[in-house]
Amino acid sequence: GIAACIFDLDGVIVDTAVYHFKAWKRLANELGFNFTEAQNEKLKGVSRVRSLELILGWGGIEKSAEEQQELATRKNEWYVDMIHHMTPEEILPGAKELLDSLRAAGIKTALGSASKNAGVILDKVGILPLFDAVIDGNMVSASKPDPEVFLKGAEALGVAPAQCIVFEDAIAGVQAGKAGGMKVVGIGEQSVLGEADLVVGGLQEINIQTLTNLFNSK
Ligand code: BG6
Ligand code: MG
Repeated sequence: GIAACIFDLDGVIVDTAVYHFKAWKRLANELGFNFTEAQNEKLKGVSRVRSLELILGWGGIEKSAEEQQELATRKNEWYVDMIHHMTPEEILPGAKELLDSLRAAGIKTALGSASKNAGVILDKVGILPLFDAVIDGNMVSASKPDPEVFLKGAEALGVAPAQCIVFEDAIAGVQAGKAGGMKVVGIGEQSVLGEADLVVGGLQEINIQTLTNLFNSK
């Protein structure tokens, strides 16, 4: 049966996209150009360094590697200031309930996030103890859609990838889970995340029974 569930963080457990947006927008504005919500959408699941490259490209600006490092650090300092004020009310609907019921059912849980700030966020919203393993952006070398982050999660839990279910809101993350040989639940729109084995609007639509049905399908 199902041995473990591995969760993406941003857009699945908490909605930090708004904080990323504010920080990137401030940086873009300081550099003299605009940054839109639509552009922010394209950065879901994308690493900090790659996000900056895309933003500079949209603004038509070139920076040296050294300057890029400084800009990414500046953005992250604003972002970290904001996430330090996060509270348990910011946990997305159904997330805590699902994590609790997985624990009660003896199914292990891991976080598999591109974010280097994942530990702080989980701590601030008070659910760090509900994860048996946390794999974040500090522990991986290849970005999603590479399956590394999820394979490391399975390894840390001591379970086979085929016995894991991944939860993801980004296309690259859905692809990473599939590439790792895992079942994937997409959180969002069917039209966007169609490569997932199941797509739902949020974790409140998921319980142990839906996961068992999914796991036993195909
Ligand atoms: C992902 C977010 O979870 O983490 C991206 O969806 C973000 O938007 C990436 O760029 C890296 O996050 P951080 O916290 O390391 O800058
Ligand atoms: Mg995400």
